[in-house]
Amino acid sequence: MSVDRRSFMKSVAAGSAACLVGCNTGDPEPTRPGDEGALCEPPVAPPPPDLDYPGASYFDQVSRDLDAAGIGTPVVFIDMDRVDANIDAIVRGISAPLSYRIVEKSLPSLDLLSYVSERSGSDKFMVLHLPFLAPLLDALPNAQVLIGKSHLTSAVESFFGSQPAGTDLAAIASRVTFLADNPTRLDELVALAGRLGVTLKLAIELDVGLARSGLNDPGLLAPMLRVFLSSSAVEFAGFLGYDGHIAHSPTGTGAGMDLAWSAATEVYQSYVDILNGPEFEALASLPDLIFNSGGSSSYPMYSTGTPVNDVAAGGGVLRPGSYPNHVIAELQPAIFIGTPVFRVYPEPRLPFFTAANSAGAFGGRKGVTIAGGGWPAYFTHPPGIQPAPLVSDPTDHSMVPNQGMVTAPADTPINPGDWIYYHPRQSDALFQFERIMLVRGGRLETETMAAYPRRY
Ligand SMILES: Cc1ncc(COP(=O)(O)O)c(C=O)c1O
Repeated sequence: MSVDRRSFMKSVAAGSAACLVGCNTGDPEPTRPGDEGALCEPPVAPPPPDLDYPGASYFDQVSRDLDAAGIGTPVVFIDMDRVDANIDAIVRGISAPLSYRIVEKSLPSLDLLSYVSERSGSDKFMVLHLPFLAPLLDALPNAQVLIGKSHLTSAVESFFGSQPAGTDLAAIASRVTFLADNPTRLDELVALAGRLGVTLKLAIELDVGLARSGLNDPGLLAPMLRVFLSSSAVEFAGFLGYDGHIAHSPTGTGAGMDLAWSAATEVYQSYVDILNGPEFEALASLPDLIFNSGGSSSYPMYSTGTPVNDVAAGGGVLRPGSYPNHVIAELQPAIFIGTPVFRVYPEPRLPFFTAANSAGAFGGRKGVTIAGGGWPAYFTHPPGIQPAPLVSDPTDHSMVPNQGMVTAPADTPINPGDWIYYHPRQSDALFQFERIMLVRGGRLETETMAAYPRRY
């Protein structure tokens, strides 16, 4: 359990029991503030996953480069050598005739998306967030986009409605495939296409086991396909069936993932079989149909035995901490957050606590205040950093607290101005920063990338 600073202050002020976080005194009666003696075991963060992290000398060099550049605020940086290796691994893992589709949500920077597109040779994108669609189409003129979720029809309408006067809506519509996840949505999109006077390219979203969205009854497919046969306002573009659940099978093993993949593939195939029936030949023979699935934790599985011809992967380029390692051990962590240390307290105190109780709560560790903190991420460097007892803002309360506090083992050499590094759980941590710093050859580059959608 974890308690945020304000609730903690309130409960202390109300004189309630102080043993709020991870207490383990062996004493059945919680100790009240002001009492002497050890209160709590210091909290322990989950350890970083077992990945190929750079060593201490790497982070020390980045720290020196940040200092030399006069940077004193939190940064996110990506290691371009690792990014290159990850892109190359993904491209090798999604080989022809499969297409690689770059996921915008997980790489939220136009500069980075453009870099990945250039290195991978793919101009196919999956866009999850509609507000980013227009800037992406604008910045990447060759981009062909598959929208990654079935948005409300009102949101699709407002996307088209927000284009500047004189925009060729038909040209935009020809570059984007929207999704329909049920017959009602399809009817709405047919009506919208009529109102806009454009042909909308639409793929049908399938639920292949994630149980989040998409058709979950093959019986619904034929009536939807008939709508495409009878309407020229919409053009059938294929299927999207995301497999986001399979790497998280409850067995926690590669074998469990294989089974989940096979089950998802069987479901996918059952829809493709309906499309391939005699009634829908005119649709099944359309050129360039997209049969999309996959993601960063599963992309290498789509080589044979699948109807899928288009595989998405985004976050894998940066390999954040949350992807299970079953089939993507090749991908290396390439995104880190760094934040400067403000103060170091060899004998840290907690508000309202006596010196003895504070010492008990910190367990002999140093208190270290930093800029920000709270990011959903693993402590990566220096070794042994942990959240502070009681006063750490959990990430579901504040992702960028003003001055977070962490702790370090008593023998860790750490001083104001030093840097603490995190490995984010998700690559979309980029959203919280204005600029993305770049490291190449272990050195900070002067060039940076703009975090999306800001453009300077
Ligand atoms: C539809 C869809 N496809 C693929 C992905 C995979 O993205 P990533 O490779 O960044 O995990 C996602 C992630 O949210 C998704 O929603």
